[in-house]
Amino acid sequence: MEFATRTIHAAQPSEPGTGSLVAPIFQTSTYEQDEPGVHQGFDYSRTNNPTRARLEQVLAALEGVAHAAVFASGLAAETAVLQAWLKPGDEVIIPLDVYGGTYRLLTRVFKPLGCIVHQIDVADPKIFAAALSQRTKLVWIESPTNPRLLVYDIAAIAAAAHAQGALLVVDNTFATPFFQQPFELGADIVVHSVTKYLAGHSDLIQGAVLAKDPAVFEPIKFLQNATGAVPSPFDCWLTLRGLKTMELRMLRHADNAAAIAEALAGHPLVRRVYYPGLASHPGHEIARRQMTGFGGMLSFELEGSVDEVTDFVSSRRFFALGESLGGVKALICHPARMTHASIPARERAALGLSDRLIRLSPGCENHRDLVADLVDGLTALQAARVSSSIVVG
Ligand SMILES: Cc1ncc(COP(=O)(O)O)c(C=O)c1O
Repeated sequence: MEFATRTIHAAQPSEPGTGSLVAPIFQTSTYEQDEPGVHQGFDYSRTNNPTRARLEQVLAALEGVAHAAVFASGLAAETAVLQAWLKPGDEVIIPLDVYGGTYRLLTRVFKPLGCIVHQIDVADPKIFAAALSQRTKLVWIESPTNPRLLVYDIAAIAAAAHAQGALLVVDNTFATPFFQQPFELGADIVVHSVTKYLAGHSDLIQGAVLAKDPAVFEPIKFLQNATGAVPSPFDCWLTLRGLKTMELRMLRHADNAAAIAEALAGHPLVRRVYYPGLASHPGHEIARRQMTGFGGMLSFELEGSVDEVTDFVSSRRFFALGESLGGVKALICHPARMTHASIPARERAALGLSDRLIRLSPGCENHRDLVADLVDGLTALQAARVSSSIVVG
C-alpha cells in the first residue's frame, strides 16, 4: 500500500455492525467483563483503548514497523524511552542541535538521576567515535534538527552506535514518515511529537514511540500503562482524522518551504537560510540520499538586531507568532526566546544557535501570500532603518 493509501486505509475498516465509514470515538474509561479477567482485549483505558489502538496501528504502518505506543505529549513519549533504556551511570549522546525540551529533559531530569549526557557534533565521525563507549546506551538524534535544520547521516550513525551496542533513537518529528523512514536507515526507536505534522492542525498535544524489535518496545509499552501519560480517545480520533490528509499537507508544506527559502536566500537582510533543499546547505547531499523531500520547515538568521527580530516576528500577517509547528496555519518563532529558551544563553552561543535565528513553519496557505508577507516585513525593516538614519542624520 502506498503512503497516502495507508493513511486512509491501514487499520481503518468501516465499523462492523453499523457500516460507519469513520470509526467511532471510544470515549470510555472502562469495559464490562464477562468474568473477572475475561474480556475482549480491553479492561481499562489507561491500559488500552480501541481508538488509541487504532491510531497506534496506523502510525506503525506509516513508519513500516509493528510496534507503536502513543502518549499524552512528545515529551511524555521521550520520557518513556529514556526511562526504559537509561539507568544511573548510563551514557546518552545527543547532537549540538536538538529540540530545547529534549535538552531540558535530559539535563534537568535524567542527569540529576545519574545519567551522563554528552552533547557533541555527531556529524564529525572522529568526535562521535571518541564519545561512544561500552557505557553508551542511547544515541539520540533529530534529522533535520530543530531549529537549524541540520541533517545527519542516519545510516552512518546507526552503524557506529550499533558497533558499540547502543540503540539509535531518531526523533522524526520534522521529517515525518512521509519524507523519511528512519527504520530503513538503521534506527531502533523512532519518536514523534504527534502534535506537529502527524496531527497537523495545531489542535492537540500528543507523542508516539515506535520500535522494530519487540524486546526494545516492550519496556516502553510497559511504561505507557505504568506511568500513565496517555492521550484521550478524542485526541487520538483527531489525529486519525488529520492523518488522512497527511500526504497532501506535506506536499504543500514542502512546496511552500522551498518557495520561501528561494525568496529569502540572497536577500540583503538575510544572513543565512537553513533549509536542506538548498544546494548550499551542508547536509543537502545527505538529505537527498535519505529523504524523499526536504520537509516543510526552514529557518533563517536576520541581518539585524534582536529588537528588529522582535519587530519582524511580531508583525507578520499570515505567520502567527507561536510555539509549535507542522499545522495547516503558518507559524513563526524566535527560538532563543521561545522553543529553545531552556538552553542557557552562553550554551546557545557555544552551540552556534544565534539570537537572530527565526524559525518558520509554513502552513498550507498559498506560497505567494506567505512569501509576500515575509518580503514585506524585510522591506519594512529596510524602510525603518532609512527613516531612523534620516532622523539621526
Ligand atoms: C523535534 C521535537 N521533538 C519533540 C517535541 C516535544 O513534543 P511535545 O511538544 O508534543 O511534547 C517537539 C516540540 O516542539 C519537537 O519540536
